[in-house]
Amino acid sequence: MSVLIKNGRVVTAVDDYHADIFISGETIDLIGANLSIAADHTIDARGKLVIPGGIDPHTHLELPFGGTITSDTFETGTRAAAFGGTTCIIDFAVQTKGTSVLDALETWHAKALGQTAIDYSFHMIITDMPEDRTKEMRMLCDEGITSYKLFMAYPGAMLSDDGTIFRAMRKAGEDGTLICMHAENGLVIDELIKTALSEGHIEPKYHALTRPTRMEAEGTHRALAIAEVARAPVYIVHLSSYDSLQELRLAQARGVMAHGETCPQYLLLDVSKYDEPGFDGAKYVLTPPLREKWNQEELWRGLRGHALHAISTDHCPFCLKEQKEIGKDDFSKIPNGGPGIENRMSLIYHYGVSGGYIGLNRFVELTSTGPAKIFGMFPKKGTIAIGSDADIVIFDQEREEIISYYNGHTHHMNIDYNAYEGMPVKGFTETVISRGRVIIDKGEYLGRKGDGQFIKRGPYGGMYTPSKSGEIPERAPASRPSV
Ligand code: URP
Ligand code: ZN
Ligand code: ZN
Repeated sequence: MSVLIKNGRVVTAVDDYHADIFISGETIDLIGANLSIAADHTIDARGKLVIPGGIDPHTHLELPFGGTITSDTFETGTRAAAFGGTTCIIDFAVQTKGTSVLDALETWHAKALGQTAIDYSFHMIITDMPEDRTKEMRMLCDEGITSYKLFMAYPGAMLSDDGTIFRAMRKAGEDGTLICMHAENGLVIDELIKTALSEGHIEPKYHALTRPTRMEAEGTHRALAIAEVARAPVYIVHLSSYDSLQELRLAQARGVMAHGETCPQYLLLDVSKYDEPGFDGAKYVLTPPLREKWNQEELWRGLRGHALHAISTDHCPFCLKEQKEIGKDDFSKIPNGGPGIENRMSLIYHYGVSGGYIGLNRFVELTSTGPAKIFGMFPKKGTIAIGSDADIVIFDQEREEIISYYNGHTHHMNIDYNAYEGMPVKGFTETVISRGRVIIDKGEYLGRKGDGQFIKRGPYGGMYTPSKSGEIPERAPASRPSV
């Protein structure tokens, strides 16, 4: 199968030029002016952007969480992602306390194999890591899992104590892998929740009122300080507030290898959403919660100024009916998470690029190239270059849509509401090519489940060499990369 994309405006994280692209099989073969090559499929991209497929480095498909399971499967979630111009996700496998992370990986492979529309990888959520099991982290690297998530929140479930965090970070630093941190002080937050409930406050808005930005900033500070002592890189997930961003900037200024992502919900939605009538505020019970509006301007500034390095969705969908309703009489029981996997590219293009906060190259960098580099997939993924995977989006800058659960063009996610309901966007995905196959064209899904492949990821910053079977690999050198 070959594809020729003609006359498009090719935009990567650094380039912006008009050219034709010839794809042979799964990769990009040739980029040039006025290519005249016979192809099985020719696409005229005149007047359109031709950009690397989006990479969403933070999704939760089929995740058991909060007494239920996220409503998008690997099939429905990745298909919705494709409609929105995302061609690769990194989801999260979860280690059950006291068991091997390798078992967890096997479980998650079984969920995703043969199901996805687009390529995928996993981070591993570590819930405990005694010293004698840290060697499993190196084994995970050999399987292409080179990043881990730890939680400072959710005591009794996911929370890791500081010793576990330090052990995992030190090992990650040695191996050239990366710890992703959910940074919130879960123990203090639990006390605030108990107090709110004891005073009879059960409504969704108390989710936000019991998770102050200072406790996110404290977690961020602590994670960064531990990473500094462990001499390990760290990636702060779903950073939502100015207080936290300032901690990230301070650590970066000290030379800590500190990365941060934020998400469309923190850039575009605010705490007033919890005042929607009845129980509708539960749609926005996600963690960290939505913040006061003034934080948004600061987060855009953080993205523009390179303190933040990626925009993910933290897509963690629970239907309002029956799932969010678990917490009808107690906000702390509402499953935490919200949808967004499908709408990220249009939202960030419209409100970020057209809104004047970031340029086109930075848009590509934040939604694709940055995640590919940080998480060991570049240049296979995250750019348009000869030899790279042909993961390409043809993006129509003029197409206007209103994002809505009721709009068949903007909502293919398996969830009964859209968090961005009624928001206009100008700029929309027209065609999606995933490893050389056209899987979306003009609103039609042309792919099949199982098209997507597991992507074995490489190390953070080139620090890790896979071991030969049975051999204890050499430790990485003491010097650390600056990515
Ligand atoms: O509310 C959220 N973000 N749910 C997903 C789990 C997490 O902390 O990322
Ligand atoms: Zn989290
Ligand atoms: Zn998450």
